[in-house]
Amino acid sequence: MKRYFLLLLASVFIAVTIPAQEKNKQWFNDKDLTLTGVYYYPEHWDESQWERDFKKMRELGFEFTHFAEFAWTQLEPEEGKYEFAWLDRAIALAAKYDLKVVMCTSTATPPVWLSRKYPEILIRLEDGTVLDHGARQHASFASPLYRELSYKMIEELAQHYGNDPRIIGWQLDNEPAVQFDYNPAAELAFRDFLRDKYRNDINALNNAWGTAFWSEIYSSFDEITLPKTRQMFMNHHQILDYRRFAAMQTNEFLDEQCRRIKKYVKDQWVTTNYIPNYDEGHIGGSKELDFQSYTRYMVYGDNEGIGRRGYRVGNPLRIAWANDFFRPIQGTYGVMELQPGQVNWGSINPQPLPGAVRLWMWSVFAGGGDFICTYRYRQPLYGTEQYHYGIVGTDGVTVTPGGREYQQFIEEIKQLRKVYSPREHKPEDYKTRKTAILFNHENAWSIDRQKQNRTWDTMDHIGKYYRTLKSFGAPVDFITEDKDFNEYPVMIVPAYQLVDEELVTRWTKYAEQGGNLVITCRTGHKDRYGRLFEAPFGSLLNNLTGNSMDFYDLLLPEDPGVIKMEGKNYAWNTWGEILIPGSNSEVWATYNKEFYEGRPAVTHRKFGKGSVTYVGVDSRNGTLEKDILSKLYGKLQIPVVDLPYGVTLEYRNGIGIVLNYSDKNYEFNLPVGAKVLIGNTTIPTAGVLVFKF
Ligand code: GAL
Repeated sequence: MKRYFLLLLASVFIAVTIPAQEKNKQWFNDKDLTLTGVYYYPEHWDESQWERDFKKMRELGFEFTHFAEFAWTQLEPEEGKYEFAWLDRAIALAAKYDLKVVMCTSTATPPVWLSRKYPEILIRLEDGTVLDHGARQHASFASPLYRELSYKMIEELAQHYGNDPRIIGWQLDNEPAVQFDYNPAAELAFRDFLRDKYRNDINALNNAWGTAFWSEIYSSFDEITLPKTRQMFMNHHQILDYRRFAAMQTNEFLDEQCRRIKKYVKDQWVTTNYIPNYDEGHIGGSKELDFQSYTRYMVYGDNEGIGRRGYRVGNPLRIAWANDFFRPIQGTYGVMELQPGQVNWGSINPQPLPGAVRLWMWSVFAGGGDFICTYRYRQPLYGTEQYHYGIVGTDGVTVTPGGREYQQFIEEIKQLRKVYSPREHKPEDYKTRKTAILFNHENAWSIDRQKQNRTWDTMDHIGKYYRTLKSFGAPVDFITEDKDFNEYPVMIVPAYQLVDEELVTRWTKYAEQGGNLVITCRTGHKDRYGRLFEAPFGSLLNNLTGNSMDFYDLLLPEDPGVIKMEGKNYAWNTWGEILIPGSNSEVWATYNKEFYEGRPAVTHRKFGKGSVTYVGVDSRNGTLEKDILSKLYGKLQIPVVDLPYGVTLEYRNGIGIVLNYSDKNYEFNLPVGAKVLIGNTTIPTAGVLVFKF
């Protein structure tokens, strides 16, 4: 019986997860490696220039273009009156030059007739400001009327283009974010969300939100408003539910757009272009999408790069992290917008370093993406995005430096298509270091409302582990709780504050069956409502870690504390748990120079067929985290490499890719038998090495 149940479970799991990847294989295949495309807005240019532009686009090597993203006004100039003839002509001309088209739903820019006739669709900010026509993204996803008007337009478009082989797929909206919208419709919808969640029982809500505190008790759902997040001390359990609700609004809107399109399409994919804001909670939440895409800009004035001119190259892990976050959701991803040159919205808008644009394309490719599209073909002459570079400049014909780097990348990919092998053909040692980072945006939301130390940063804490793994040359998947943990020899669970017993049981089983868990500080302190457990602090993990926690401490950043591990000192100040180790725990690191000198901060123990490492502290600069993971991987005999920060190594399709974001040449030791395909083993700043292994 039990076996039958397990089989049933397994088949449900397979039915839910495999089809997405299988389906994507019809659209993307190994031999193409990656497709490259570019945005074009026919409605911005004189029709007499379209053909010239598509011809040149094709000459540069682009394989698809991207239409109608913000063209609702041109598509439906009056309510219910649709005009697709201009778009038909643009598609026909693009096809003449062998360019496929990504079609968009334009819901980020409603026409003025819509906002004037139905002003109730406009977003209202927390301070009461109502957004207006004249920009974009001013319509409320919570407005049932806005949704209906959107779906009507989308169905017309899908009926018209759903069966058209020149259209490869669809992008919904544009960079759909979670709207923190105070439109009255959002308030009503929030109440409905709560009624549903708490089964119409106001006492259940009062209990979850702890409203006995400060006389906050509600007697009816009708008394509840959207939380004023800027009001000091606003109930954070309520804010947690509000964030869940707001993410759901975006997800539902996208899901329904997708369903309407799928009523008509034949063999076209549907995705959207998210900004990788990992803590917004909606990415991956629209289950109807075929795969996820993201947009990425790398150079905008802040120096997140390495060295004096690092701001021209960008943060070395900014694309890698997005790849590793988006790919595991459905097995592939695309990049819908990648910076072609200078942008116009940064604090300073410098020129990228020559080579950097190509480096970013190779970075997307290295993570396993199926397409790269750039924003945009022509530099705009008017409107909000003047000064934004394109593939060609203001004259419409001169190829920009970034445009030339696209051309070079496309040519290089065409060469590689001659030597490709299957996607999953990767070296064994690379595959054995595959590591998961378990991620739930709700932890960041929850911790950030009650940080306890102004210098704590949840994403930065996670980043210390991620950066270490990338220096190991490890393939990393950010995964959510709906995935199978057993695929990964090591799983990191960083600052996972919100848990329930079921999740802790799954972690326990994972380690029992041979998984190696690395759990870090602040994990398991609260339930899913954000309430502390009525038990010794943090004790839900005691059976797993073997420890109990005596207390936690936080230090002034001006005077950090010291952790000692194997004779080496490490600085810390944001969060430290003082542990009482169990009898079979090995103490790996201890506190120094505080009144609890010598007490454990990091422990490790065997657990079932696997192990549990508990890191009760967050270090200043990540070197402690790196040394802990090095020790662990050494113990587990998982082979790792040691790349300097700024250099990454990935594999796909039988090809190795080394990227250099650092400010120095990097000398790469080519594996025995490997053959250089592109570049050189001395890799300059912003350089790339591609080899066949
Ligand atoms: C993106 C946006 C695009 C365009 C671009 C300019 O964030 O999705 O529509 O505005 O920025 O860099």
